[in-house]
Amino acid sequence: MKVLLLLGLVAFALADITRFEGDRVFRLKPVLDEHVTLIKELAKSIQVDFWRPETSELVTIDIDVDIHVPAVYLDMVYTILQQSDMEHEVLIEDLQSAIEIQADSKVSPRSHSYIRYNTWDTIQSWIASVSSSNSNLISKQVIGNTYEGRPMTVLKLGKKSSSTKPAIFMDCGIHAREWISPAFCQWFVKEALSTYGSDSQMTSLLNQMDVFVLPVFNIDGYDFTHKSNRMWRKTLSKKSGTACLGADPNRNFNAGWCTAGASSNPCSDTYCGSAPESEIEVKNVADFIRRNKSIIKAYITIHSYSQLLLFPYSYTFQLAADHSELLQVAQAASSALRSLYGTAYTSGPGAATIYPAAGGSDDWAYDLGVKYSYTFELRDTGRYGFLLPESQIKPTCEETMLAVKYIAAHVQKNL
Ligand code: ARG
Ligand code: ZN
Repeated sequence: MKVLLLLGLVAFALADITRFEGDRVFRLKPVLDEHVTLIKELAKSIQVDFWRPETSELVTIDIDVDIHVPAVYLDMVYTILQQSDMEHEVLIEDLQSAIEIQADSKVSPRSHSYIRYNTWDTIQSWIASVSSSNSNLISKQVIGNTYEGRPMTVLKLGKKSSSTKPAIFMDCGIHAREWISPAFCQWFVKEALSTYGSDSQMTSLLNQMDVFVLPVFNIDGYDFTHKSNRMWRKTLSKKSGTACLGADPNRNFNAGWCTAGASSNPCSDTYCGSAPESEIEVKNVADFIRRNKSIIKAYITIHSYSQLLLFPYSYTFQLAADHSELLQVAQAASSALRSLYGTAYTSGPGAATIYPAAGGSDDWAYDLGVKYSYTFELRDTGRYGFLLPESQIKPTCEETMLAVKYIAAHVQKNL
């Protein structure tokens, strides 16, 4: 019996999975400057995982602040909350149970499913099979490897043509823990293949244009969230002089790099990296888009959570040259999305709508000349946050399809 217990412990230690027993996710509502200061100080003295906004530096008055507090700090946090009289609610009572409810990872390896959160290994074999069994509409191309050596494969959807077609580029999974995002890219590929020929809009889109889909941008990080730490956000690159791993890929693009809403501290979740494109995944995507610059007419990037449809700029409060068109398309796309299940989205330029944050892929693509550049923040608004239940994958993807198709149709009309 003792031996068994010991073996169990050893196996557990070897698996090296971060557990979150008793950890809680709070929503704080700072309404005074003191509250803001307090949150920032808290972040300095204890290990707080910011869910929204992504770091303490981005906290301002009158916004909801969602934070994950490890169990050991709960007493302390409650004392502070009471003393300061800051309004708050508990979003998630016990993070570990929420994680376990979300994904039944016990049955692994599992076969691929569009209504499940698939592991990277499963997605990788799906990429191979989906592209070989639909070769008239889809092809694949490796655009480079990740830091840990995993191949980054872009799927090209579209009717084969002898001349080069204009294209849309879409990526998912820039941030590792936003699992609904890669689920959407897989859904999109399935929908494109299964509705081509029957849905007139999809047919026309794929006849006239190609859609490049990168199902998982930050593969190393995504794999890490399945195997080691569900709450991981960044890449996993190693850097000399620090034990902290990775950088935030959406702070690592060359667009006002590291000037706002990003951190130069390698241990921060919004670390901008040692230089623009220091992260190989970012460089691979940027190189691909630069190479195909003349044909790429739209850039779409999928994140979660908050239910937002954002467009440039985020590195500055200045309005984009195409602001009014971008806004109009975003609003119409949001109403299309809402028409299905009533899910409400807010749209606007990133800096003014949420917060200034430089080094994002959307701003970079826009400044490169890709006019229709959009960032989606999918469901929900915080009830489950990153732990959106698998039962919401289908409705989330269905409604998001409507918005993406609206944007695509507008791009098509304006070729
Ligand atoms: N939550 C996303 C992030 O922080 C928003 C991205 C908006 N665009 C941007 N360039 N900051 O990465
Ligand atoms: Zn994100």
